[in-house]
Amino acid sequence: LSSIEIDLSSIPEATAVTLKWRGKPLFIRHRSADEISQSQAVDVSTLVDPQADVKRAKDPEWIVLIGVCTHLGCIPIAGGGDFGGWYCPCHGSHYDNAGRIRKGPAPENLIIPPYKFLSPTSIIVG
Ligand code: FES
Repeated sequence: LSSIEIDLSSIPEATAVTLKWRGKPLFIRHRSADEISQSQAVDVSTLVDPQADVKRAKDPEWIVLIGVCTHLGCIPIAGGGDFGGWYCPCHGSHYDNAGRIRKGPAPENLIIPPYKFLSPTSIIVG
């Protein structure tokens, strides 16, 4: 299937799930208000791949990412690392809750796939 529809209502706040899309891991994180404000408060000029939080999410509560480390392609682990997002154990890349690279060798933020909201609690990816 090239597109998948995802029901977000079963994903509790402050948790992340891993699904599959076009043979790749797809990460979805339901961010809490605290997580959103932490991420929005980051000084973008300090980032390796500078991108404002608002550019990373169509709705700030939901972060949708391709779960492939931009270093050498391992699959990062949800909830790990120093920035509350994902941690890639292969060579130690730390991503924040918006999927931005914050520490370690990865050169770019996790990639955002094409997606759109069908309703406040469902999206279509692809
Ligand atoms: Fe993720 Fe190297 S593949 S840090």
